[in-house]
Amino acid sequence: MNADPAAAAVARAAASAPDLDVLAERARGCAACPELAAARTTVVVGAFPTAARLLLVGEAPGAREDRTGLPFVGKAGALLDRLLADAGLRRADVAVANVVKCRPPGNRTPTAGEVGRCRHWLDAQLDRADPRLVVAMGATATAWALGRGVRIAAVRGVARPWRGRTLLVTYHPSAAIRFGPRGAPMAALRADLDRAAQLVGA
Ligand code: URA
Repeated sequence: MNADPAAAAVARAAASAPDLDVLAERARGCAACPELAAARTTVVVGAFPTAARLLLVGEAPGAREDRTGLPFVGKAGALLDRLLADAGLRRADVAVANVVKCRPPGNRTPTAGEVGRCRHWLDAQLDRADPRLVVAMGATATAWALGRGVRIAAVRGVARPWRGRTLLVTYHPSAAIRFGPRGAPMAALRADLDRAAQLVGA
């Protein structure tokens, strides 16, 4: 049972969408989080190339994503593209989505309520896209996958069975940028994306 009626409505709309296109259409019309719906330019539904074996999950769109409607096209996205290429993965072959599909004003962290409502879109996308491997990047994606209060440092880099697939937790590209090229998050993110490439047979 979902105590939040708006979350329950999202869950129903997401679960009953017959495919990713209908799901995206419904998500684009979502107004479950009034503050986010009022402030957004676009709903950043995510990119789901056909038959992608890998799904990367981030937190929420930033300013550039909000303008373009595409996930990870700002600074964090540029780093992600570089590390994916270094790992032998083409961004065009990888599914990319966020836990929260609208930009939180000022790029604040999404609230628990926003995550609790929006996560149903992602849960249904996961189901429809059916990737073999999911990489949760950062605290919000890790909480979506494993629950709140899990420390990334304690779980990252280890492939684990999860919802009938494989899950890998790693740092968010923004953390890698914040700690710099010689920081531990950059090295971990690089190593974890290399591992992801191995796991999907790139
Ligand atoms: N950060 C995220 O978590 N997602 C994006 O799409 C961009 C930046």
